[in-house]
Amino acid sequence: MLTRLASTSHEELHRVEDRDSGLRGYIALHSTRLGPAAGGLRMRTYDSDAAAIDDVLNLSRGMSYKNAAAGLPLGGGKAVIMGDPSRDKTPEMLRAMGRAINALQGRYWTAEDMGMAPEDMAEIARETRFVAGLDHGQYASGDPSPITAKGVFNAMRAGAAQVFGSDDLAGRHVAVQGLGHVGWHLCRLLHEVGARLSVADMDARCVTRAVRELGANVVPLSRIHATQADIFAPCAIGGILNARTIPEIQARLVAGAANNQLATPEDAATLHTRGILYLPDYVANGGGIINVAAEILQIPDSGPWVAERLDAMQATMAKILTRAEGEDLSPARVADRMIEDQLLQVAV
Ligand code: NAI
Repeated sequence: MLTRLASTSHEELHRVEDRDSGLRGYIALHSTRLGPAAGGLRMRTYDSDAAAIDDVLNLSRGMSYKNAAAGLPLGGGKAVIMGDPSRDKTPEMLRAMGRAINALQGRYWTAEDMGMAPEDMAEIARETRFVAGLDHGQYASGDPSPITAKGVFNAMRAGAAQVFGSDDLAGRHVAVQGLGHVGWHLCRLLHEVGARLSVADMDARCVTRAVRELGANVVPLSRIHATQADIFAPCAIGGILNARTIPEIQARLVAGAANNQLATPEDAATLHTRGILYLPDYVANGGGIINVAAEILQIPDSGPWVAERLDAMQATMAKILTRAEGEDLSPARVADRMIEDQLLQVAV
């Protein structure tokens, strides 16, 4: 049921199939240079196997960069299940995926991603120990979102220092797209320091709550990126920074949690040319994987360990921003280059 496929760009690519449970998916290990490949399991519908392979290859490469940027001794990997999580997901399917992950003997560690919840990880854990993001257990790390939000908040302050000359976010106007797990925590942190919020989310309930509890201003979904704000914080979908949206962005700083915010690598240069400072997403949102890593690496009483790495992540972001300013390059380009150098320096 685990079939290894050829890949020129990744260390390993596997097709996972289980007829009994209807499982169809892929696992990709981009790099294990820094340690076991770690990255979440995503479940969503795909138009084709080629689309699923594309996704798992891109996401696992992204995890190599994110884990390296967070200073973790972990490589990059990812797994996908093809199907609608609300309709097709079954315990049998998750357990079959657990057996496939187990067959990789610890070269890949999984955790939650889109379409997965802690209880799904618990099901997978019945078949393998190479799973994190659990709610229960000696090293359980639980929901990573508050730590992710804290990391994004810290990054935003570093960006604000460069753009506005002060890292104080009091009185700054922040437009937040997506009030889910991370977006909501981020809004709370911003509200606490006196920032002004404009928000948009497809879920009317969280928007109403943001108005009531945080005094947020509501913006139509299609216009949140174009809000006349100081900072735009994408905390929902990928690809939000693209040829259509970038010319409409009014904020001078873009700092958010969403993965793969740039539709194409060239969009980083377009933002830079427009004088908009974009904080590379995989550096800003690394708090979540740091939290999960504490579980993978079995760090006892991991609070101080996580806090130390969040500080280091902030120092990395500061270094990227300083270099980018000095070389007149987009921070995304500088970050990619820094991580690629770092990966090359590690002996195979
Ligand atoms: P979530 O699923 O809890 O929240 C996403 C929110 O965005 C939902 O409230 C949804 O209704 C809203 N949304 C979806 N499409 C939208 C649109 N077009 N416009 C406005 N709102 C929209 O997800 P979560 O965990 O908060 O993650 C947010 C982003 O951050 C995702 O891209 C995720 O991959 C990324 N991320 C999350 C981490 C975590 O610790 N949860 C860690 C690193 C990255």
